[in-house]
Amino acid sequence: MQDQPHLIQIQPLDETHLYGILAVVEDLPEWFDETARTKSIPIDMRHQEGFVAVSGQRVVGFVTLYVAESRLNIGWLGVAREFHRQGIGTRLLAAAEMKALDLGIDELATYTLGDSVDYEPYDLTRNFYRKHGFSVYKRSRTDNSGCPEEIWISKRVKEEQTTFECTLC
Ligand SMILES: CC(C)(COP(=O)(O)OP(=O)(O)OC[C@H]1O[C@@H](n2cnc3c(N)ncnc32)[C@H](O)[C@@H]1OP(=O)(O)O)[C@@H](O)C(=O)NCCC(=O)NCCS
Repeated sequence: MQDQPHLIQIQPLDETHLYGILAVVEDLPEWFDETARTKSIPIDMRHQEGFVAVSGQRVVGFVTLYVAESRLNIGWLGVAREFHRQGIGTRLLAAAEMKALDLGIDELATYTLGDSVDYEPYDLTRNFYRKHGFSVYKRSRTDNSGCPEEIWISKRVKEEQTTFECTLC
């Protein structure tokens, strides 16, 4: 039987979640390249806070967070493929918004592949962020052929907006 979203817990991220997170990203190569999977995520998650979605002992989603330029930034976000579209990404985002409020920060931000790049997987990613109120505050061209345009996106976080169901509260 497949896990139901209401049985999935959102918990603070710690180092014991590393292998579970790597199992999630291993199965999402359209979004996480080899450098991300083998180097960036293992290093970053030791230095960033965040949350995991767990089903029993299994990590099925995660978000990492860091503060820069007065924004709470999403470093990495992913949900195991077979759990997509069950509201887990939304719950991780809600946890991130609550974290921002706890820190007295009113803006949640991240960057992703720009919409000038024709690559369908990131259409879904941008749709997810757009649906949750993120809008572009900066565009930049890069010399990385895999990511020639980045968009920097953010949303204002207010107490009354964080009304998602969250097992942390
Ligand atoms: C983006 C992501 C974290 C969203 O998590 P999720 O648990 O699937 O999201 P939710 O169920 O809370 O929200 C679903 C929304 O996300 C978007 N979405 C996510 N997966 C989608 C899919 N396979 N097809 C279409 N839309 C999708 C849609 O906007 C959808 O809204 P809808 O169901 O009303 O159409 C997840 O799809 C994922 O891990 N994607 C790959 C990694 C990634 O993009 N990470 C972020 C940038 S590094």
